[in-house]
Amino acid sequence: MKSKSVFICQSCGTHSPKWLGRCPGCGEWNTLVEEVEETVGAEYSFPSSEPVLYQDIKEFKNPRIKVKIEEFNKVLGGGIVIGSLVLIGGEPGIGKSTLLLQISRDFAIDQEKVLYVSGEESLEQIKLRGERLGVRGGQLFLLAETNLERILAQAEKIMPQVLVLDSIQTVFSSKLSSSPGTISQVREVANQVFRFAKRNQVSSFLIGHITKEGSLAGPKSLEHMVDVVLLFEGERDRSHRVLRALKNRFGPVSELAIFEMAASGLQAISNPSAFFLKERPANEPGSVVVSTIKGSRPLLIEIQSLVSSTLFASNPRRMTVGLDHFRTAMLLAVIEKKLGYGFGGDDIYLNVAGGLEIEEPAADLGIVLGVVSCLKNRPVPAGMAAFGEVGLSGEVRSVGQALARVKEAASLGFGTIVLPQGNVGPLEKEDLAGTKLVGVQHIRQAIDLIF
Ligand code: TYD
Ligand code: MG
Repeated sequence: MKSKSVFICQSCGTHSPKWLGRCPGCGEWNTLVEEVEETVGAEYSFPSSEPVLYQDIKEFKNPRIKVKIEEFNKVLGGGIVIGSLVLIGGEPGIGKSTLLLQISRDFAIDQEKVLYVSGEESLEQIKLRGERLGVRGGQLFLLAETNLERILAQAEKIMPQVLVLDSIQTVFSSKLSSSPGTISQVREVANQVFRFAKRNQVSSFLIGHITKEGSLAGPKSLEHMVDVVLLFEGERDRSHRVLRALKNRFGPVSELAIFEMAASGLQAISNPSAFFLKERPANEPGSVVVSTIKGSRPLLIEIQSLVSSTLFASNPRRMTVGLDHFRTAMLLAVIEKKLGYGFGGDDIYLNVAGGLEIEEPAADLGIVLGVVSCLKNRPVPAGMAAFGEVGLSGEVRSVGQALARVKEAASLGFGTIVLPQGNVGPLEKEDLAGTKLVGVQHIRQAIDLIF
């Protein structure tokens, strides 16, 4: 093994032979840190190092283990794949340790062995959290240790079903001389745990802190080394947290689970639509409910618009929170051009309630209805939800998964659904008794019908 000193950007991992004030890779300032680069041979070695004929490979009988938190299984694509390495990133205080201790608790109660390693907290501190979460022992082993080689030696001894490393930034390998949390350490730790997980079929979790900017400090550079990357997000002043997959070698990445932090840990919210709509104001102009798809399931979300005369006549504001800015600007242009409204003298604010994000064009029709409702100062009728993509001519285009969207809205008591005419046909043979489908081909038609 040979070693030389290099400078590595802690934000993107770019290497440089000399120190630079600004990283040539990502343009960040003061992110280069001197590290000793060791060249280790054979980075990844799976248990089989001989080629095997495809037909000789044994099929995995039950490759996933389910956790008791069904929402968590969903985000993972149906449970934890045995021997997979999952990275969970999130800001400090968001609930990463809580979530993984809850999961560990459930396995331990079922007499599955779990090794929870903490480099951040003492065993007593973990126990304190455990008491709130109702941990009852079973086969839950705790270890307060930061040296990776010692951790893995203990893991070899116990041979747990599940291994948790809290957090990757506090653990270091004695093979490297750089300090814990640096890119080379974080990578070395991930690499060794990855090999341990594959060799022994131990499902492993790495907890990683992310910085404000949203990059997994160090862990960002790990994304390619792990099987699954989960992101735990939420705002400090809100009780709910959103868990979603950024990468998943064994499932879709669009699933999301919503949790609420309660006195006894994280509680999954099983009906997110109701949760996000519960504070919706009644009969308020500018508020509209759209039926969107998040992952494999529909979700009803409120979009709020506010149009108010501007103080900056030459440059009125166009602010969006949770919506694509450019798409929204396009829709505003369509409203001006095709419906004949002028709002050159107005500021326009659009917000997705609950701090969620909507990426799909199926929210277009909702945005248009919300803005027009605000301009007319007339509320969208209570009990009405909408979805549909809007094109540049103002035409309303059909979208996927219309039935799921309609059913979700109907199940929450929305009796009238405004949707693309093109989606209505296939829905006619469905049993949607009590739900009125209003198909529209153009936004003008929708506006005339509603207001
Ligand atoms: P924690 O899991 O320690 O966050 P992270 O590991 O991501 O840094 O917990 C975060 C917060 O949750 C902490 O401020 C205390 C709070 N909390 C509860 O409200 N209820 C609980 O049952 C627990 C365990 C924590
Ligand atoms: Mg923690």
